[in-house]
Amino acid sequence: MCSQDLNFETLLNYLRQKHHFDFTNYKRESLMRRISNRMQQLSITDFSKYNDYLEVDCEEFINLFNIIENNFTYFFRDIGDWHYLSNQIIPQIIASKRSEEPIRTWSAGCSSGQETYTLAMMLAELLGLEQFRQRVQIYGTDIDQEALNQARQGSYLSDQVSNVPGSLLNKYFERADDRYVFRRDLRSSIFFRRHNMIEDPPLPRIDLLLCRNTLIYFNLEAQTKVLLRFHFSLKDKGFLFLGKSEMVANPDLFSSINLHHRIFVKVPGGHRNPHLLVKAFQRPQYGSDKLSRLMPGQLSPFLA
Ligand SMILES: C[S@@+](CC[C@H](N)C(=O)[O-])C[C@H]1O[C@@H](n2cnc3c(N)ncnc32)[C@H](O)[C@@H]1O
Repeated sequence: MCSQDLNFETLLNYLRQKHHFDFTNYKRESLMRRISNRMQQLSITDFSKYNDYLEVDCEEFINLFNIIENNFTYFFRDIGDWHYLSNQIIPQIIASKRSEEPIRTWSAGCSSGQETYTLAMMLAELLGLEQFRQRVQIYGTDIDQEALNQARQGSYLSDQVSNVPGSLLNKYFERADDRYVFRRDLRSSIFFRRHNMIEDPPLPRIDLLLCRNTLIYFNLEAQTKVLLRFHFSLKDKGFLFLGKSEMVANPDLFSSINLHHRIFVKVPGGHRNPHLLVKAFQRPQYGSDKLSRLMPGQLSPFLA
């Protein structure tokens, strides 16, 4: 290992130990590129010097975190959690319904669509293709129009699909030159829309809501608001699937099914509390950008 690589690994260890954020599973190339871009802004050329900078400037981690995580996504992110979802949760949803009843799911903060298509593959595997086409509705929403355009195309380079198991890659993607394109016939059940989860009306009658690695960007006020809206959005006994570092603190709204896998179930009726309802739907007094901005020092409350 060259000294540059060694310093980079030391930096990742530092981030894990000091800030409890484990980036070691992220793809090295894009991680290095993102961190180097940040270093360039600061005119720092060496990973070990940047490590020193992080130690001295306690706000720098937040800047780095926002740069690394912004839009970052990949197929089957946190694979163990997806296994749990597919073995324990989706079968419960299917079993709770009549054979022709629709299954409505929402991937909020879907970025360029990898999470949404991962969910599509899991549902199609469990239901079969015919049932999937007839019954499944998957909404993928994001605030970022550019990410949504990529999601709609469903077209990925080979390194972007490297986490998709070979059998699923063959079954659900078509080759187009150097790209893998998600099957067109299944894409008609997947709807990508621009939607700001803090301000826009929540989608109704949802059975399973994924909001992963997005709440962590929001301050406490915005988080509360979004969770109230999600509660409103879900059917009674609907499931909420969060990211590895995210939590629901309000037991009136959700109870945990499996904390390790960050899966929660809606507590029916919580939204009828008028105080909570007002909170969820009141307009922000200042722009939602400001409301949702992650400020230095606000990361720790969301950590598990
Ligand atoms: C780090 S990505 C997470 C992608 C995916 N959920 C995953 O876990 O791999 C966070 C996404 O949330 C989106 N986002 C941020 N604020 C949002 C908001 N207020 N409403 C909807 N999406 C938002 C960003 O544009 C970004 O695509």
